[in-house]
Order: sequence, then structure tokens, then C-alpha cells
Amino acid sequence: MTHSKIIGTGSYLPEKILTNQDLESIVDTNDSWIRTRTGIEQRHIAADNEMASDLAVNACLKAIESADISIDKIDLIIVATTTPDMTFPSTACILQNKLGIKDCPAFDVQAVCSGFVYALATADMFIRAGKYKTALVVGTEIYSRLLDWSDRSTCVLFGDGAGAVLITKSDQPGILSSHLHANGSHYNTLSLPGNISHGKIQGNPFVTMEGNTVFKFAVKVMEEIVYEALSENNLQTSDIDWLIPHQANIRIIRSTAKKLGISMEKVVTTIAKHGNTSAASIPLALDLAVRDKRIKPNQYVLLEGVGGGFTWGAVLIRW
Ligand code: UT7
Repeated sequence: MTHSKIIGTGSYLPEKILTNQDLESIVDTNDSWIRTRTGIEQRHIAADNEMASDLAVNACLKAIESADISIDKIDLIIVATTTPDMTFPSTACILQNKLGIKDCPAFDVQAVCSGFVYALATADMFIRAGKYKTALVVGTEIYSRLLDWSDRSTCVLFGDGAGAVLITKSDQPGILSSHLHANGSHYNTLSLPGNISHGKIQGNPFVTMEGNTVFKFAVKVMEEIVYEALSENNLQTSDIDWLIPHQANIRIIRSTAKKLGISMEKVVTTIAKHGNTSAASIPLALDLAVRDKRIKPNQYVLLEGVGGGFTWGAVLIRW
């Protein structure tokens, strides 16, 4: 049977760091509120001349280097982003060109903070179907450009960055299963309603969020999706070696771990240093834990995300 497995990871964070103290001079907030309510200490902010595809290129080159394969082996590119370079073409096509890859399917996936999980699940399906052999799967975001920097309820939460994995055809898993969900009845709860129409931006061009509603929903589904993934594979929570959740709020992550009975020592967190990087948060955290050698061969790694839509999902991996 054909499976897919991750053979390389990479990530990139823009050079500029914005601390909570820096934010105190921008909006009516303070380091203590941000730390205790979210776990965030700082976030990275892209330079004016950096686009989502540029962040992605840096992350992809590291993933390709760590996989030690030739770039021309890549036959599929999927990019998860909420902050594409342009309305069209896709950021995946722009990334393909910047990487110098001549011909392979390339497309974006839009599932906001669950985007990387959606993209990885999609690439896994293509490989398992026997259609493609080696896929580049990327989460890349520049949320700093979608924020109203006078709205303290949102501007302190997000950051910029990119993470990438290379997955390839394998006789053994690899990716054991993926689980995707969406409930569009919540589309207004976390959104950026504005769009370009008749040459103008129509509607609010900034991130809007009912924080408490998102929080409660996230805690609920982040637990449920773990049990769904474990049940399909006849595994228990005690089998999970590493839980890599979307990084939106340390309180959501802690509640999820507590409800599941998983020690925080088995949870990879980057929220303090990265903030919420939406579709990039999971591959950024994965790359960190791979590079510091926390994740070891044969371990069970569970990735899970939740975000606007609402969308949510998980991918269970035997490393
Ligand atoms: O990535 C996609 C998924 N996103 C999420 O999962 C985000 C989920 N939501 C959250 O993480 C939290 O709801 C927030 C961090 C957004 C907010 O935390 P909260 O504990 O739910 O706070 P709150 O919105 O209930 O606000 C509490 C107080 C309010 O003041 P009053 O009305 O009690 O006087 C806010 O005005 O905190 C105030 N506040 C702030 N104070 C200082 C809100 N933002 C700030 C701020 N600095 N930045």
C-alpha cells in the first residue's frame, strides 16, 4: 500500500521582532495582560519588501536541504495562506517560480489557521492515490498587514512566519490518517470581511474576531479531533509522543492538554516567541521540534489546527 511520509522540514521568521513592550507604545495594552491572557511575549514582523512567497521560499529551501533531495523531484506544491501575495495568481505559483521549478501542479489552500493541516491532508491524498511522488507543503503568513494596529483586541495576537515540509511516497506510514472539518455557520465570528470590488476595497479590511466564542469553540474541537484521530488508529492519548497544536493562545493549548490528560512536556509550544502565525504556526512548531531532536523515529506526532470558517482538523504521523 502507498503512504506518504515527511522527509524534510524548514521554517523562516522575519528578522524584525515586536515585543509586548513595543506594543505598549502603539495601543492601550500591557505586557502583563498579553502574557497572562495569551502566553505571547513577542512576534516577528515581515519587512515591507517581504511577501508571503518570500517567507515561503526561505522555509522551503531549508526543508529541501534537510530532505537532501534535488529540487526537480518536487512534483506538487500546496501553499496554505490567508495572506496571499496577490488576489491571483496563487502564492503557490509565485513560490514555484521563485524556486525555479518548471512544471508541477501548484495551488493555494484557504482554511485560515487550519490551512496547513488541510494542505498536508490534501498532499497525502494525492500521493496515496499514486498521482504524485514528492510534495512541498507550506504554511506562510503575513498577518501584520491584516491588522488594525489601533485595535488592541486583535493586533497583539498575531505574527508573521512560514513553515514547510517535504513529503514523499513511502511503503510505510508516515502519515497515518487525516481528519478535516468545517462549519461555515460561524463564518462571521472570525473573519476579514473586506474584498476588492470595482477597483476599491469594499467592507472592513481588518481581522475581526469574537475572541470568547472562538476560544470556547477551539477548546472543544481541539479535544474532539484528537480522539477522532486516535480512535481511527486504535491508539490512546498515552500513545501520543508529541502534540503540535495550532498556536493561538497558551490557555487554549493548556486546556486541551489537560482535558486529554497529556502532560505539557509532550506539547510543542511556540506561542511565546511567534504569536499566532495562522497557517504557519504548526509547521513552524514542527520544524523547531524536529531540529532540536525532540521528535525521534517511530514516535507518534499529532498535528491539530482550528481557525476561521470555522475549520478544524488533525494529521496523525508515525515519525
Ligand atoms: O487562530 C485562530 C483562533 N483564534 C483564537 O483561538 C483566539 C481565541 N480567543 C482568545 O485567545 C481570547 O479570547 C483573546 C486573547 C482574544 C481575549 O482574551 P479574553 O480572556 O477572552 O479577554 P476578553 O476579550 O474577554 O477581554 C477581557 C478584558 C476586556 O476588558 P473589560 O471589558 O473586562 O474591561 C478587554 O477590553 O481585556 C480587555 N482587553 C485588553 N486589555 C489589555 C482586550 N484586549 C486587551 C489588550 N490589552 N490587548
